[in-house]
Amino acid sequence: MIKAIVLVVVIVALLVLLGSGIHLYRVAQKNAYEMAKFENTDIKLEPKTGKTLVVYYSLTGHTKEIAEKIADYTNADIFEIQTTEKFKIDATFYINVRKQLKKGRYPQIVEPLPDFSKYDTVFVGGPVWWYAPATPLLAFLKKADFKTKKVVPFSTQGSNYGSFFVDFNKMAYNAKLRPSESFNNLPEKYNKAVDNKIISWINSIN
Ligand SMILES: Cc1cc2nc3c(=O)[nH]c(=O)nc-3n(C[C@H](O)[C@H](O)[C@H](O)COP(=O)(O)O)c2cc1C
Repeated sequence: MIKAIVLVVVIVALLVLLGSGIHLYRVAQKNAYEMAKFENTDIKLEPKTGKTLVVYYSLTGHTKEIAEKIADYTNADIFEIQTTEKFKIDATFYINVRKQLKKGRYPQIVEPLPDFSKYDTVFVGGPVWWYAPATPLLAFLKKADFKTKKVVPFSTQGSNYGSFFVDFNKMAYNAKLRPSESFNNLPEKYNKAVDNKIISWINSIN
């Protein structure tokens, strides 16, 4: 009996490993296909975003990296959304986030928010959590009045942004939405392609 249970556990573990291996392989293939468009080319930066602000939330640094590049290319001011209490990333973190999303109870964020009336364009980005905008970003969107400024959403994620932009667009009060962009976490070999992707996107915004 014990032997049979061990065998079932081993088979299930192998199937899970195989499944995640296939998933990772597919994501890598998709990334390579998408980023090929931006490799081996030099795109000239031609921003038309006027006075620009980049707002971002980042827990582990990926969104911060993209936000800083956007700010660099658009000569923008930058504002980091911060929670009043730091997240503890332990075994319960993912479950707590899921609960926050389900109940629409988001963490408190540090205020005041920036004065959007000073800007022509506001980029706003954050990570995807459970196929939705990270809860601190949702907390920010709940409070922000974009005062009819151009708002450009962006996300970072492992591979699937789910309903991030649909949710974002619904909550962006008084925003003139402009084309959004999403960024999968990628290995370093794609750095130049990511820069080109950002430049090409910025050039498309007016
Ligand atoms: C709670 C949680 C949920 C996540 N859910 C998703 C998801 O649904 N889809 C996805 O592609 N990545 C998901 N990720 C991965 C993050 O979106 C990704 O690593 C992101 O770039 C992290 O951004 P940051 O480093 O700026 O915090 C999740 C990460 C966390 C912590």
